[in-house]
Amino acid sequence: MIKINKMFGCLLTVALMVTGASRAVAAEQCGIASAHELATNAGCEILRSGGNAFDAAVAVAAALAVVEPFASGIGGGGFFLLHRASDNVDVFIDARETAPARATPDFFVDNTGHAKQKAALEGPTAAGIPGEPAALDWVARRYGKLSLARTLAPAIRLAKQGFAADARYAAASRMQESLLQSNGAAARIFLDHGKAAAAGFLVIQPQLADTLHMIGAEGGTSFYRGDFARRLVTQVQTAGGLWELSDLENYRVIERAPVKFTYRGASITTSPLPSSGGLVLAQSLFILESMPMSRVSESERAHYIVEAMRRGYQDRARFMGDPGFFAVPVKKLASREYALARGASIDPQRATPSSVLAQDSAAVEEGADTSHFSIIDAAGNRVAATVSVNGPFGSGFVAGDTGVILNNHMDDFVLVPGVPNLYKLVGSKANAIQPGKRPLSSMSPTFVEDDRGVLVLGTPGGSRIISMVLESILDYVDRAEFDLKRLVATPRFHHQYLPDRIEIEPGSFSDDWIEALKDKGHVVEPGKRKWGNMQAVFRDRKTGRIETASDPRGQSGVLF
Ligand code: DON
Repeated sequence: MIKINKMFGCLLTVALMVTGASRAVAAEQCGIASAHELATNAGCEILRSGGNAFDAAVAVAAALAVVEPFASGIGGGGFFLLHRASDNVDVFIDARETAPARATPDFFVDNTGHAKQKAALEGPTAAGIPGEPAALDWVARRYGKLSLARTLAPAIRLAKQGFAADARYAAASRMQESLLQSNGAAARIFLDHGKAAAAGFLVIQPQLADTLHMIGAEGGTSFYRGDFARRLVTQVQTAGGLWELSDLENYRVIERAPVKFTYRGASITTSPLPSSGGLVLAQSLFILESMPMSRVSESERAHYIVEAMRRGYQDRARFMGDPGFFAVPVKKLASREYALARGASIDPQRATPSSVLAQDSAAVEEGADTSHFSIIDAAGNRVAATVSVNGPFGSGFVAGDTGVILNNHMDDFVLVPGVPNLYKLVGSKANAIQPGKRPLSSMSPTFVEDDRGVLVLGTPGGSRIISMVLESILDYVDRAEFDLKRLVATPRFHHQYLPDRIEIEPGSFSDDWIEALKDKGHVVEPGKRKWGNMQAVFRDRKTGRIETASDPRGQSGVLF
């Protein structure tokens, strides 16, 4: 029997709404942290009615699809990293979108060779074939204890009854007002009389409720086959999109082995391709393990971290893509020897310009929005899941009367080599569009384990997801004192190889720190706003005590 501690339990949501603490709920032996209190409540409801962490994950993901339609949903995809306590199994559920068969590289390039980025970002041409409906079904059937109809019930209720828009919803609808206005169904559901909605606006989604109800009653396949699928395809094609019925019928969730390695004795279990997260984290952390991190100043430490990231992200751009379509040299990229060789070029005194690093071609021979949640249950099962429709409100296209807003994940492919995407990421032919292929992702749900306990974490934030997870792992492993609230709130800096600059959260670093890095030759630029919305759950190995923390940035309308 799960006992919810009333101080922090799901029952006191009204009082906790004021502090934001209800996004992260800890009971005696279980904890849930998500980006929205109503989604966290949905997970609590399922745990209380006898479900396990996997059932709760289905409930949280489905509720997020309703209350954060700008971030994730059944028109998008995601990754679910699971740990099953009974047999100590870790598995990565890949529910990433796939490119439709008619999405050839040429479709996204004009006749002068320029990328047609609008087609990859807006409207139905931007949408990959969604993976989330298949994932909900897969996780429920293979890992859960309750029926899909039961676990989807809280989300269906929220969609039917509506929920009050919060500051983040209002910010997203302001940002995407004109995109949403361009699609009748999207405007009707998500705008207030055709205008951006303010906080407090009641968002009611009866058609999405019907779609979720259908999935609960008939299973995930009802989304991909038969009448519903035909309706989806008709809506998409009528509006100029590329989907065909066979694209939906061919969609499959893939179970993959997570990337596993150790960093200074802590075990890291994280995301494999088509997420670039695991390989970039492994390379960066292996490099950092060989650096004198505990004996240097804060700015020197940042210099090493930036140089490690620069190299990790460079390999993301050069070599990574869907492993089912491109021979990514995974073994090499995940090896300590390779990382140490890459780290050998780091000068403690000077930044390595990315343009200089780009000449090193011999290193390997072979060729907003999003949402994260973390769960631990009383049996020790864990879920770290990052789900997404990509940009805020995805493609802005709602497929007619289905109530489903479609993703814009086609932009995560490389449209033209060297041309940056929404997150300023560049890439190679490893991540070029091919029918059925999954676009390379940065989403990195992660577990960190050591003698002290186990940490379940992740965050949205596009390309900056990996640097955020990296800095949190460093905070947990390298700092003497563990403090989960600090870990999710720590000021962030980011380097992704190109553009060649350190981006910092505005107002978060001292002038001395910035000057010391500039003296080493780095360009340091404050971003427009802070980024990330990390959700973490920690279980203390000795006491069994659970702690949860939600990123304070996610409280105030911060989108990225
Ligand atoms: O898969 C990816 O890497 C991106 N589509 C994630 C997008 C994201 O995190 C937007 N965030 N706020």
